Amino acid sequence: MEKTLSIVKPDGVNKNLVGEVIKRFEKAGLRVVALKMVQLTKKQAEGFYAVHKQRPFFDSLTTFMCSDPIVPMVLEGKDAIKKVRDIMGATNPKDAAPGTIRKDFADSIESNIVHGSDGHDTAAFEIGYFFNATEILR
Ligand code: CMP
Repeated sequence: MEKTLSIVKPDGVNKNLVGEVIKRFEKAGLRVVALKMVQLTKKQAEGFYAVHKQRPFFDSLTTFMCSDPIVPMVLEGKDAIKKVRDIMGATNPKDAAPGTIRKDFADSIESNIVHGSDGHDTAAFEIGYFFNATEILR
């Protein structure tokens, strides 16, 4: 069993897509083992996306991510990291396959509804960024 972090981003929350996103993950056999709603500070958003610090979109991305509440969650299942990424679709909705969350709902590469960890190391860092051990079902 593998765990990964997903986030319904501010645009997803504002478009009332929290339930839709979770439904798609659950239908794929993933289990929600932790869930919360938070609004990040700019510093917290910068810490979460620190790996992108040198990118030209860093300021815009982190400003967007703290603009409204988000819903981070931990998902568990076989190949959870890849499953979540497949269900989300490509980062840029223009490149996302039909039937993916980003193809169906995202407006742009920045406002792309949902985040998912891209590997084992990032999943461990990102899960720990939002949840402590007592907040994750075992
Ligand atoms: P996410 O999966 O959360 O990981 C990093 C985020 O940076 C990504 O989704 C996009 O929202 C954002 N991003 C990636 N590339 C760009 C870009 N070229 N311009 C703006 N935002 C980007």
